[in-house]
Amino acid sequence: MEKIIRTKNRLIFTKIPAPGTNKIFKNIQKYESRSMHGQIPIAWSKAENFNIFDIAGNKFIDFTSTIFVSNTGHSNPRIKKYIQMSLKNNFLHSYAYIHKLREKYLKKLVKFSGNGLEKAFLMSAGTEATEAAFKLMRMYGKNQKKRKLGIICFEGNWHGRTMASQMMSGNKKQSEWIGYHDKNIHHIPFPFPWKTNEKKAEKFLENSLKKLKKKINLKKDVCGVMFETFQGWGAIFYPLKYVQLFAKICKKNNILIAFDEMQAGFSRTGKNFGFEHYNIKPDIVCCGKGMGGGIAVSGVIGKKKIMDLPDVGNMSSTNSANPIACSAGLAVIEEIQKKKLTLKSKKLGAYLHKGLNNIKRKFPSLFDVYGKGLIASMIFDKRVPNINYKLKLIVEDAMKNGLLLCYTGRESIKIGPPLTITKEALKEGLKIIEESVERIFKNEQN
Ligand SMILES: Cc1ncc(COP(=O)(O)O)c(C=O)c1O
Repeated sequence: MEKIIRTKNRLIFTKIPAPGTNKIFKNIQKYESRSMHGQIPIAWSKAENFNIFDIAGNKFIDFTSTIFVSNTGHSNPRIKKYIQMSLKNNFLHSYAYIHKLREKYLKKLVKFSGNGLEKAFLMSAGTEATEAAFKLMRMYGKNQKKRKLGIICFEGNWHGRTMASQMMSGNKKQSEWIGYHDKNIHHIPFPFPWKTNEKKAEKFLENSLKKLKKKINLKKDVCGVMFETFQGWGAIFYPLKYVQLFAKICKKNNILIAFDEMQAGFSRTGKNFGFEHYNIKPDIVCCGKGMGGGIAVSGVIGKKKIMDLPDVGNMSSTNSANPIACSAGLAVIEEIQKKKLTLKSKKLGAYLHKGLNNIKRKFPSLFDVYGKGLIASMIFDKRVPNINYKLKLIVEDAMKNGLLLCYTGRESIKIGPPLTITKEALKEGLKIIEESVERIFKNEQN
């Protein structure tokens, strides 16, 4: 007989992984590309608010939001209602033909974005949004000067799995398949907190640009800078002064600023968009994930002069802005506003970070805590032997105790529950993390 865990927020009554999970894994491995695999062994059957249920009916607290998608809670009732309205009206698809839902959603989206962003364009995947930003930046540059094609990106940042997205990402191994390096894409070092701090941040940027300026001229050769709002694997933000100085330099040299808000957008960090933490106004914002709350919606939001650069038909897609996507997108924004989820993310985020720092106090040299609002990471000391394997054990141990964490495959664990989570469930999850860290690292300290 397995140990039964029963609380208001969890129910674990079978062996974990639940009986039958391995059979699904084996079959799916037979028929699906292995590139889709690598997650911890749990087969989902349904998800509601901040809970995930597996195939046996075990109930877990979700600290992943399906990789920061379900910001408004899994199977959000308003999203379901709006989609059902479209279904009832026999309205599933419309290609690029206009419809009222699209009119309503785009207006709402642009207003929600604020910050001088005037127009949007909708797609389905996040990687399409970063591709579109790449295209817009280059079009903008070419309009000024034929060779103003340079795009500055960051080592270690990540923007998706299609060609331009992978070229902009700082993971060389993942983009090897492209077979060449676009000499107009320039990666500069990320200002990690262990390399610089707020005081030295401007100098850090100046040094990076000094090196770059030996090869290129910012004004003549660079059309855009692509920021990931925080570096994904570790939820690491840039120093404020770093981004503010970069924005000034961009303005001076007529360079566009794009933010990849895939993980940071839609209230995740305690602001509507993560870039707001830097007090700057980007020209282009790329969104996805939380934008559709579980339905495939992504988009680029930007200034009118940039968004209108492509000719009619040159930035559109068969599934763009279909009625189901617009219904979901609309429901997400209404839900954020009605339930004050941005503020909730800020307040509960403070509680989460305090809780993680309390755990850290028990293991002072083992990990540091990063992030803002309801996104957090625990970055562990890389020098601990087999650290990546040990973190996988923590994630699996937490799963066995009814908590899902993000396994990053690196020396970090990421935490990002739905913004609708209760304080009580957050507290319960923090306790599980503490116990799992204790179990796996009991011999590591002292
Ligand atoms: C920062 C960032 N950009 C882009 C993407 C790509 O989004 P998608 O997987 O929807 O293509 C992701 C996905 O994880 C992401 O985290």
